[in-house]
Amino acid sequence: MVDLTPPRHTLDPIEIASRDEIAAVQLERLRATLHNVYDNVPFYRRRFDEAGVHPSGLRHLDDLARFPFTHKDDLRANYPFGMFAVPRQQVARVHASSGTTGKPTVVGYTAADLEMWAEVVARSLRAAGARPGHVVHVAYGYGLFTGGLGVHYGAERLGCTVVPVSGGMTPRQVRLIQDFQPDVITVTPSYMLAILDEFRRRGIDPRSTSLKVGIFGAEPWTPGVRREIEEAFDMHAVDIYGLSEVIGPGVSNECVETKDGLHIWEDHFYPEVIDPQTGEVLPDGEMGELVFTSLTKEAMPIVRYRTRDLTRLLPGTARTMRRMEKVTGRSDDMLIIRGVNVFPSQIEELILAQPALAPHYVLEVDRPDRLDILTVRVEARTATAPSELGQQLARSLKDNVGITAQVVVEAPDALDRSTGKAVRVLDRRPTD
Ligand code: DLL
Repeated sequence: MVDLTPPRHTLDPIEIASRDEIAAVQLERLRATLHNVYDNVPFYRRRFDEAGVHPSGLRHLDDLARFPFTHKDDLRANYPFGMFAVPRQQVARVHASSGTTGKPTVVGYTAADLEMWAEVVARSLRAAGARPGHVVHVAYGYGLFTGGLGVHYGAERLGCTVVPVSGGMTPRQVRLIQDFQPDVITVTPSYMLAILDEFRRRGIDPRSTSLKVGIFGAEPWTPGVRREIEEAFDMHAVDIYGLSEVIGPGVSNECVETKDGLHIWEDHFYPEVIDPQTGEVLPDGEMGELVFTSLTKEAMPIVRYRTRDLTRLLPGTARTMRRMEKVTGRSDDMLIIRGVNVFPSQIEELILAQPALAPHYVLEVDRPDRLDILTVRVEARTATAPSELGQQLARSLKDNVGITAQVVVEAPDALDRSTGKAVRVLDRRPTD
């Protein structure tokens, strides 16, 4: 793999500023944000009043802990435009979550927000190893999802040649990679694995492509998937994180030279990690739920948004900005199987540790009587896989995670592929 470390002089000075400088910028911006939402969004004024807090009470960054949280349900309750802090006429663009359950959540951007978003995505892509002049293949979905358009404008801002492919039509993805010779691909990690299969199906060596780096996010992915993709394509695989409510992709990104967690662009997004049960702020280094407050957004500033993503905050390395550990799951992804807590990512790691199994799987949970039954459907890499593969994985799940599972080893290509975020869990247990 080629060295893609960005030259130091190309970084934004704030990325490597002192902690004091970063904190000073944060405090000033946090004050302005709290005043802005209190003055312009009735929802926040009500919430702050109910909690007995006022923006003028924020003297230190730590004082933020006294302010109330914002939840996804709050966005739903204010559907569609009730969280906006500017008149609708100043909103240049909206995006929305897919809304698989209930109403979608809508987010809005002023022209200045779109500028800021392009800046943080450009910073993310640069951290990942992208350079002005690179060809960037964007296979995140375009549309209400923030992935496609978010990465698109960031790549343009960095000075790249953007190929806006969107997701789907997998044979065409392969053909365009062959023909346009991109340096960079941006796509969900699960769809990258489907693209990898397509290369192999066509007998094209993925190591022969022009790709130097893949920038993968929008869903959890494990170190095992990183190894799989890096070896298969002989390219770097770097993590990008974000969420619509905060901006979209570009909240944090791994640096290609360290790949040791994601640097949070703390001059725009203020992170806290809390105990999900008590809401108490945890010290850096402790695992909990990630909470974000936007520092520079105009159309839809957000205060203490509970992401449900589980991680810990770590000191900066390649940048002075703090890192978040790779997100391996969301609190609402956690399965409780007969009382044992398990995240899909733990099962993914064990699947990838078995060389004869492919990284394509789905977890089905049923409760036919009173007992939970977990079925792991996973593909074998080859049609002639030995029959004991399933038992081996079942044993590994029991030994490492403590769960009893039925493992069904499927033929190669038997499971559905997603072209965006993969659906890993089918929980068919009654909800009552
Ligand atoms: O997924 C934004 C995005 C697009 C990020 C493209 C990166 C690349 P939402 O659809 O609102 O936004 O989903 C946000 O996806 O709270 C996490 O649970 C999950 N997620 C996003 N990035 C990662 C990642 C986009 N790198 C939700 N690792 C978040 C793990 C991720 N989970």
